[in-house]
Amino acid sequence: MTSPRKILVTAALPYANGPIHIGHLVEYIQTDIWVRFQKLMGNRCIFIWADDTHGTAIMISAKKAGVSEEEFIARMNEEHQRDFGTFQIAYDNYGSTNSSENRELCGRIWSALRQAGLIVEKDVSQLYDTVAGTFLADRFVKGNCPKCNAPDQYGDNCDKCGSTYTPADLKNPYSTLTKTTPEIRSAKHLFVELEKLHPFLEQWTQSGEHLQTEVANYLKGHFLGEPLRDWDVSRPAPYFGFEISDSPGNYWYVWFDAPIGYMASLEQWCQKTGEKFNDWWPQRIDAESAGVEIHHFIGKDITYFHTLFWPGMLHAAKFKLPTRVHIHGFLTVGGEKMSKSKGTFVKAETYAKHLDVSALRYYFASKLGPRLDDLDLNPGEFIDKVNSDLVGKVVNIASRCTKFVQASGLSANYPEDGGLFTAGVAAGKEIATAYEGCDYARAMRLIMELAASANVYIDGKEPWKIAKDPARAQEVQDACTVGLNLFRQIAVYLSPVLPKLAEQAGALLNEPIAHWKQSQHPLVGTKVAPFSHMMKRLELKDFEAMIEESKESGVGFQPAQAEGTGDRGQGTDSGDALTAEPLVTDLISIDDFTKVDLRVARVINAEEVPEAKKLLKLTLGLGGDVKRQVFAGIKAAYKPADLVGRLVIVVANLQPRQMKFGLSEGMVTACGPGGEEVFLLSLDEGAKPGMRVH
Ligand code: 2FM
Ligand code: ZN
Repeated sequence: MTSPRKILVTAALPYANGPIHIGHLVEYIQTDIWVRFQKLMGNRCIFIWADDTHGTAIMISAKKAGVSEEEFIARMNEEHQRDFGTFQIAYDNYGSTNSSENRELCGRIWSALRQAGLIVEKDVSQLYDTVAGTFLADRFVKGNCPKCNAPDQYGDNCDKCGSTYTPADLKNPYSTLTKTTPEIRSAKHLFVELEKLHPFLEQWTQSGEHLQTEVANYLKGHFLGEPLRDWDVSRPAPYFGFEISDSPGNYWYVWFDAPIGYMASLEQWCQKTGEKFNDWWPQRIDAESAGVEIHHFIGKDITYFHTLFWPGMLHAAKFKLPTRVHIHGFLTVGGEKMSKSKGTFVKAETYAKHLDVSALRYYFASKLGPRLDDLDLNPGEFIDKVNSDLVGKVVNIASRCTKFVQASGLSANYPEDGGLFTAGVAAGKEIATAYEGCDYARAMRLIMELAASANVYIDGKEPWKIAKDPARAQEVQDACTVGLNLFRQIAVYLSPVLPKLAEQAGALLNEPIAHWKQSQHPLVGTKVAPFSHMMKRLELKDFEAMIEESKESGVGFQPAQAEGTGDRGQGTDSGDALTAEPLVTDLISIDDFTKVDLRVARVINAEEVPEAKKLLKLTLGLGGDVKRQVFAGIKAAYKPADLVGRLVIVVANLQPRQMKFGLSEGMVTACGPGGEEVFLLSLDEGAKPGMRVH
């Protein structure tokens, strides 16, 4: 008998700056399934996790919310854990990167990097947002890629050509916080000289089973073919994070302390359980002999942090390296990127209000393979798959057999079943291999084949017919004993994905499902509990209602604090918009207001301006012959054809402005943060062009 494996698992730490959405859930469900599978196999597996709490984004969000950073992240932590509970994500410890354990571990790893001679100090020109009063983190600057010139790329890497750079290298940079052009300011930063670790990283990434093949090849092609750039790991004050002990006024960059947060959460778990940190994350490189495996689950967008920087840090500090980094693709909805305006950016909380959590867990499992392909949540396919597989096949087995063995219980000996149970045992090996290799799609296909055969068996036996003949009672009991055993075998195989169904199956047959081995031996002679409802058919209208609600509430890079305080879903609007753009406190007089001549106008013509990325050219009629030409930055949100004929409100006395494309003679009023999320003001029935807004 092989002894149980010891496995430490992590998922990427969610930023404590916004709610959990269905895009996050792909990874968290993927990780949870793997952990549950390992536990079911009898392995010692722990899922160690935390909120990622530092950095400029959180600092700014807390400020906007009018609370301290500590209070802000505490609320987020609570909200995140509430959502994970709803989605049955079962971790062993949920910490925070803003913990004393993390501060101490950061200090240890930092000293090791210093001792290894890997830290250098350099002056850095960093972009500074003069309006927000802060240096801009990489993800808060966008502009044209310095290499391929692709527009709207983040400050750290280009998702078009894959190159990495610093924000100051961007062409036409703008702050995503205030949309203003930042200025360059110089500050002292500390760097890790990653190039010194090049030979190690080459060897680690290109050998063994640490990475998926395509990831190893990607790293070779994009990073390892040339000298590795120094990694900037400090940020000057103001910064929410840990001050670097030997460099006052400088803070560890969030991406330095975030992965160390995995270790800090482990340390907390050890304190809780009395386990030893060293037994789970030994401090030596060649720790295979310690017999512990470390598995990280992450999305492809954070590949280089986890496959270059993190192994580099661990290697330098002589800690055990990850056994494997499992990388998945992104979620699309209906074949498109998740979008706030289309309502496909669905919060976990909103999903759970409208639809069954098990359905999403199953659907994601059925789409997740071992590679990095994106996976699509297609509404029609989602509804059909869940209804046909789970309701139509799996639950159907139990619902068709249970009542006929309610009084008798299961037969005392397992009846002849034409080899079905044994075939299920054999399939179990392949299913386990598929789970182990993160090929859940294959595991689900194999399980559904078993469910289909079980249904064919029950169709053939027709217990509901033969039960009418008292002379055939034994035959009925035997048929249902087979049916329910096949159901139970399937429930064991599905239990990493559908823990609730497994629990119900355990209750039905009076033996909780806790081990894979239970799928290998039939149950006989036991009582059968009354059938209780297991899963309802999904309806498209519920999916649509969820999308509708997501359109209204909107999520994304907004602090979740404001959302958490509202009475969402019960008719009260959330405070998101106000948090993003607080009320102006400088009061104006009525005279100030009347200086702005706001008028109702009709869009007579609307057309695209080919050379302008964001603008539409509108011809507005203010009544009679009075017309205005206005360029409005609403191209991402409105199609020209949809605008013609509608009424808008225009600032009619704005100084005309000569633009590259023509004269703009006013401004159309709208609200929203920008891009696709711009909403023109509309008017009630009866309003006429030319009317003044008072
Ligand atoms: O990309 C993210 O959402 C990060 N918060 C993930 C951090 S993972 C780890 F390194 F902490
Ligand atoms: Zn590029």
